[in-house]
Amino acid sequence: MNDLYVQPVFLLGLGGVGRALARQILATRDRHARRNRLHLAIVGVADRTSSIVEPSGLSDAAVRDLLDRKSRGERLTPDPRPLIPDSLPPHTIVVDTTATDATALWLIEAKARGMGVVLANKLPLAGDLRWWDAIADERARWETTCGAALPVISTLNTLLDSGDEVIRIEGSLSGTLGFLSSQLEAGVPFGQAVRDAKARGYTEPDPRQDLGGLDAARKALILARMLGYRLEMKDVAVESLYPPEMDALSVDEFLREADALDAPMKQRAAELTAGGRKLRYAAEIADGRLRVGLVGAAPDSKLGSIRSSDSIVVFHTRYFGDNPLAVSGRGAGQEVTASGVLGDIVSLSRAMRR
Ligand SMILES: NC(=O)c1ccc[n+]([C@@H]2O[C@H](COP(=O)([O-])OP(=O)(O)OC[C@H]3O[C@@H](n4cnc5c(N)ncnc54)[C@H](OP(=O)(O)O)[C@@H]3O)[C@@H](O)[C@H]2O)c1
Repeated sequence: MNDLYVQPVFLLGLGGVGRALARQILATRDRHARRNRLHLAIVGVADRTSSIVEPSGLSDAAVRDLLDRKSRGERLTPDPRPLIPDSLPPHTIVVDTTATDATALWLIEAKARGMGVVLANKLPLAGDLRWWDAIADERARWETTCGAALPVISTLNTLLDSGDEVIRIEGSLSGTLGFLSSQLEAGVPFGQAVRDAKARGYTEPDPRQDLGGLDAARKALILARMLGYRLEMKDVAVESLYPPEMDALSVDEFLREADALDAPMKQRAAELTAGGRKLRYAAEIADGRLRVGLVGAAPDSKLGSIRSSDSIVVFHTRYFGDNPLAVSGRGAGQEVTASGVLGDIVSLSRAMRR
């Protein structure tokens, strides 16, 4: 260990992604020692109610024990403790794999103390623009906020650093809505398609969280902000696939009453797919504006030709011309997301060392 650089890492969130990340950190110790002369020391972890801190690094056995306890649904500690403790080393990387915007102010505080931050959590970056301004700089990485481990953010950064001009970005950023779009295109009635998607585990427990389009809109907002668009969420045109009155229903009532949307959705799908176009739920970022909703994509276009549950982001630029640069593939999953977060930690550690 003597000649390894010891990088302190504090894990905020130990849910599916956070636990997969901790396991991957332990499993890749040899690789990071050999390849990067790096040892990632987990100096603490925090969940919704408490934190555990060991500034010299928790042992791998202690980390495994914590993961086992979290997998069994136990709390980290019986007593609540501050979430970003004072005792963390100043060059710590704080990793946010929570799903709350409550972390935004802690991340900003961590950065003010000289730390780096890595986010899988979109909410701090898609929230108030002041949060974006305080977090999104060279001491932060957020690759997995848009398309899990697909290299979407790094590709956009490369384009922004080059002499090229990004004219327009389009993207299909929700596997759930991709699946639903393909079902609607195949003529499956909307209510049935939603119930199928839920039964296969493709949706959140409340499918309205997917159908409302907000998650896809947040991913696209992060890309738009990277382009320099000063947009807030309220400026984004988001097409919800159900009317707001249905928010008052319970999940079961919604699933039953979704059949009422069969006819209007059938008509909308028919209009958009006229002439053999493919139905997609896509984001379009251009001319300072961002829209997210159903579109009809040309079947031979990059957007129109992906597998419906995959994610894709297409960058239309001056130099790529009529053959735009596209990044596509599996855009969700806890293990693949954790691997993207780990890549961000290694890349940020290297940059902070410099
Ligand atoms: N799964 C994917 O495919 C994927 C892909 C890309 C990005 N992401 C993003 O990755 C993040 C994590 O996803 P997940 O599936 O791991 O979620 P999850 O299983 O719900 O885990 C969330 C974790 O955050 C903790 N947490 C919640 N509120 C907190 C707070 N106020 N302070 C500290 N910790 C808090 C929870 O604590 P408790 O354990 O105490 O409840 C839990 O450990 C989300 O933001 C998600 O959008 C996920």
